[in-house]
Amino acid sequence: MLNIRIDEERCIQCGECAEDCPNDVLTIDGGYPEVVAEREDQCIGCQHCFAVCPTGAFSIFGLNPEKSTPLDGNLPSPEQLNTLIKGRRSVRRYLDEPVEKSKITELIEVIANGPTGVNNRKLLFTVVENQTTMKALRTDTYEGIRRVEKENGLPPGLEIFSGIAAAATSGQDVLFRNAPHLLIVSSPEDGPSPEQDCLIAMTYFELLAAADGLGTVWNGLCRRALTQIVPETLTPLKIPKDHIIGYMMSFGKPAVEYHRTVQRGNQSINRI
Ligand SMILES: Cc1cc2nc3c(=O)[nH]c(=O)nc-3n(C[C@H](O)[C@H](O)[C@H](O)COP(=O)(O)O)c2cc1C
Repeated sequence: MLNIRIDEERCIQCGECAEDCPNDVLTIDGGYPEVVAEREDQCIGCQHCFAVCPTGAFSIFGLNPEKSTPLDGNLPSPEQLNTLIKGRRSVRRYLDEPVEKSKITELIEVIANGPTGVNNRKLLFTVVENQTTMKALRTDTYEGIRRVEKENGLPPGLEIFSGIAAAATSGQDVLFRNAPHLLIVSSPEDGPSPEQDCLIAMTYFELLAAADGLGTVWNGLCRRALTQIVPETLTPLKIPKDHIIGYMMSFGKPAVEYHRTVQRGNQSINRI
């Protein structure tokens, strides 16, 4: 049920809502926008009709246009985004204090506005918020790696984890970087593009967290350890079995401050 409502006093019958619909679900043949009955089930819920309406006359799913942020005058400048992208860093030093729950919720709710294939939006963000759980996960992971190494040897290609587990014994947390939180994004494997959806969400999280003064690090080592060496450590996290684990990211309040952008250049461009 699309629950479309048109404020006829505001609607200027410009037709943008119908024009911008990716699946031709709307028509303005009758003057005001209407759903094409036989195409209603083609709606992917993208809300383009709602976002494109210049006068806020269009409502779908019961949404109130007044509750959206107007884009005019509210977008960051290209320079600001450039600085964010060049200035965000992988953070590997963290304060020993958790991020406020409300801040974590806010970040995740914003990144849930990112694109997903066919607007699937079936992402699950599993966040280790609780510090006792984070400590247990850390300990279980290192102990598990040592046990696997002793019993069967590490899987081929993962021998590096032997040194990582040894470093942990002398207090160096290479896997989790002593971060107070771990974020895992997953999505049902039968979706149109679960891997890509997860990576996009994590990319948005990294940037948004950096803009908010938080540190993050993409955690490929952790992902390999938890999924390939000690998968039992994931069980308490209750990620559905039919999900692919898209990626893992450690995050928290940084114990390091960066003062300038890096200067990477030499990007290969294949101009045709
Ligand atoms: C997919 C991916 C996986 C990564 N995995 C790890 C990791 O396991 N541990 C780590 O310390 N850094 C990891 N990184 C961070 C990279 O090492 C880092 O992005 C790179 O050195 C450049 O530094 P910068 O992010 O500060 O620009 C990963 C980055 C990406 C994109």
